[in-house]
Amino acid sequence: MTKCALISGRGMGLMHGGNFHNHPDAEVVAVCDMDPELLAKAEEQFGAPGYSSIEELLANCDAELVLLIVNETRRIPPLRQLLAAGRNVFTEKPLCGLEGQHRVREPDLAVAAPAISAWRDSGLKFGIDFNYRFMHHFRKLHDDVAEGRLGEIRMVHARAHFNCWSHVIDQILWTMGTPEWVSVIGNPKQDRDWERLIHIGWENGVIGSLSGTNLWGYDDHPLRVKILGETSYAEARGLEGWYCRRKANSSEHEELWEAEDGNPEMPESFKRMADGVIKAMHADTAFPADGEAAWNELLFEAAVHRSALQNGARVFLSDVEHAASV
Ligand SMILES: NC(=O)c1ccc[n+]([C@@H]2O[C@H](COP(=O)([O-])OP(=O)(O)OC[C@H]3O[C@@H](n4cnc5c(N)ncnc54)[C@H](O)[C@@H]3O)[C@@H](O)[C@H]2O)c1
Repeated sequence: MTKCALISGRGMGLMHGGNFHNHPDAEVVAVCDMDPELLAKAEEQFGAPGYSSIEELLANCDAELVLLIVNETRRIPPLRQLLAAGRNVFTEKPLCGLEGQHRVREPDLAVAAPAISAWRDSGLKFGIDFNYRFMHHFRKLHDDVAEGRLGEIRMVHARAHFNCWSHVIDQILWTMGTPEWVSVIGNPKQDRDWERLIHIGWENGVIGSLSGTNLWGYDDHPLRVKILGETSYAEARGLEGWYCRRKANSSEHEELWEAEDGNPEMPESFKRMADGVIKAMHADTAFPADGEAAWNELLFEAAVHRSALQNGARVFLSDVEHAASV
């Protein structure tokens, strides 16, 4: 039985806490929130003792896994504190965004860097909630690429509403590997969430594009990822679940999968992520999306920010990583 402590009495925190608590091999044994009303609510929901600070939680609770479900604007200090105290940590995405998740900037990478190096040196488990990896349609796309069913990959074509922004980046990186460079049109100096058109290049010659805004709605799916190979191409769409693979240059169907009405993939993906984390605790393996996945997504966003500030200059991710000195 994995003993978990939950930090957050708000909606996302209670949802994650519930998924771990309902898992047959895990239990929420303590809760923590600096807001007394939310703390009382969480104590009641889990029937567990509550603490108003992380210091108090650490002093009184030996949970080996901490669910740190706080916002990206204030995630890094508690993450460092928990790792320094020898606790394994599961957290939300993106790893860091001091101006919020739709406006991740290059300085956020430098803020997160010491936490990532502490984790790499610690031998502890650390993971991030890239739960879209547990949606059936995105996993199909990943597996079709990994297992060669599209032939040699040539191109990636993706777009997303900002609500799905860190996830669409994780999807591209998880399935295609970390790119070599980006070149970006957009103006990060705008006060609002800035629209961006991203060109992407991988070392092996694959090219791609990703566009993001929150001006479009959810009418035509909040995210779409299409990957084109020499023999076939495939697309995964939306949060309900839709997947299609077709023959290259003919569009003949090879596979079509759609979630049944009333059974969307999104809520299930959080439960499957909790299951993946608990299985990794028991098998002593890395979490399903670990600190490297968290870091690489942030690195991509930092490079996007730098390129946009430089009028679309080609920015190499290795240069941005070097500047953050990890
Ligand atoms: N994976 C997904 O699909 C998905 C969907 C929605 C939201 N999210 C992410 O979930 C996160 C939700 O965060 P939020 O906005 O609820 O967080 P938040 O910062 O509001 O914190 C949640 C609760 O934790 C408490 N808290 C925060 N820091 C604390 C500390 N150091 N000590 C004690 N208590 C503390 C706060 O009082 C608050 O009640 C966001 O990062 C968001 O991006 C992910």
